[in-house]
Amino acid sequence: MDAFIIQGGRPLRGTVRVHGSKNASLPLMAAALLTQEAVTLRDVPDLADIRNMSKLLGSLGCKVEKDAADSDATNLHAHDWGPSLAHYDIVRTMRAGVCVLGPLLAARGQAKVSMPGGCAIGDRPVDLHIRGLKALGARVRLEGGYIIAEVPDGGTGGGAASKERGRLRGAHVFLGGPNGSTVLGTANVMSAATLAEGVTVIECAACEPEVEDLADMLNSMGAKITGAGTPRVTIEGVDRLHGTDHTVIPDRIEAGTYVIAAAITNGAVTLENFPTRDLTAFLDRLAVCGVTMEAADYAKGDAVGPAFATRGRGDTCDDDSASSGPADAAPADPRDTTPGLEPRPGRPAVRHPGRRDTARVAMQRRLCPVHVVTQPHPGFPTDLQAQLMALLTLADGNSIITEKIFPDRFLHVAELLRMGADCIRSGPTVLVSGVRDLVGAPVMASDLRASAGLVLAGLAARGTTTINRVYHLDRGYERMETTLRGLGAQIERVDVAGV
Ligand code: EPU
Repeated sequence: MDAFIIQGGRPLRGTVRVHGSKNASLPLMAAALLTQEAVTLRDVPDLADIRNMSKLLGSLGCKVEKDAADSDATNLHAHDWGPSLAHYDIVRTMRAGVCVLGPLLAARGQAKVSMPGGCAIGDRPVDLHIRGLKALGARVRLEGGYIIAEVPDGGTGGGAASKERGRLRGAHVFLGGPNGSTVLGTANVMSAATLAEGVTVIECAACEPEVEDLADMLNSMGAKITGAGTPRVTIEGVDRLHGTDHTVIPDRIEAGTYVIAAAITNGAVTLENFPTRDLTAFLDRLAVCGVTMEAADYAKGDAVGPAFATRGRGDTCDDDSASSGPADAAPADPRDTTPGLEPRPGRPAVRHPGRRDTARVAMQRRLCPVHVVTQPHPGFPTDLQAQLMALLTLADGNSIITEKIFPDRFLHVAELLRMGADCIRSGPTVLVSGVRDLVGAPVMASDLRASAGLVLAGLAARGTTTINRVYHLDRGYERMETTLRGLGAQIERVDVAGV
């Protein structure tokens, strides 16, 4: 089994290009099941989860292959509309396998998809997915660990365009749950509704950028979706969808992880293909910590920062640390962000944050503590909670992190303690008291983002950190050790038998 060995304490310097988003790519790939025409996706990252999704789609009659002439392009072609079984053996390795449910049901009239089950970050129910599909008229039952869904009078395998088959029907669907909306549930219901008869309105839809990207791709396939990226999404059903060529949005979580890698090592890193607009709450919290971040226009290459942040060397921490959430990121004066309007005298012009920016992160001072609450988008993302915690272990004072999406997503805490961090957990909240130094230790990766947090801690720690079970990391970060080495980190992948 692979492990990382890190010699910490080296400031990272250089340039990284952010890859296409894993969590956007997975539902986009599943959406290729909605058409019998070819779909091309660009900038799909090369990750274990993507390979698993390719395997799952292959078992569902959808060929997935890298374009021989263009290494950036992945071609998907659902040539055989017969199969509708997403087997446990594949779905158990990757929870996102559940996002074939909506497309299969809408296109083929039936789907038998393994219940994904829980994982290290929590129970991860799928009740909202099922509620949404039932609202569209599907018959759904659970049997032998599988979700079995059918369109009444459907399942003839002839495609939704076929006159004889049943279709889902548009409906008013509410997708709110105890912890907010559901990202993959919204993807499932939205995808299914594209081929339904009539209009579907999803209330309390997930607003994550990955949902917006899926809607953009579906619209380019002939769907009629409005409001994606807001809590109300409207889908006017169409008879059929056609092929498309779509570029995946950059991975906001990978981007945020490398921002922290620069900050935690007191480095200076330039990030290309940086989705500034998708990271507002994250960048707001980092600004309060004292991490300097500048964004420049990607297309033109002209610097127009500072976009966020704002402290310099020698500044002291202030009571900003008690605030939380996206509301704090809102500009004080709309003239500061509205393109075309003059900035207030004495203030820098702040440009509209883009999705493919070039951003520079620099860190040259002690960190200030912050109060962070993870929330659905545009709040602080749960997928960056472990990484931020690693950073805050080195802040000057007490930080508070509350996890509102997956209240048990704290397996990294015990491992950070092994490295000398001072954290106390009480239910969904962790008090992180900053220490002067972290010290290298052998630690165990437990899930994808916890592993990323441990790598970041290892980069900052004195001495050697060994991170076991990095296969979790390979699910979501493309060749992370190569990227970090390119920035000057001392990190090796080794094969450690039996750990
Ligand atoms: N929930 C329900 N019922 C449902 C579905 C979800 O109660 O039917 C609850 C969950 O238990 C959780 C909350 O709703 O408390 C949000 O879960 P959501 O359904 O939004 O999560 P997901 O769609 O399964 C995606 C990402 C996760 C990310 C979450 C939250 C993918 C492939 N996965 O999962 O990413 O943490 O949204 O933003 O898109 C990761 O990349 O490391 C990762 C775990």
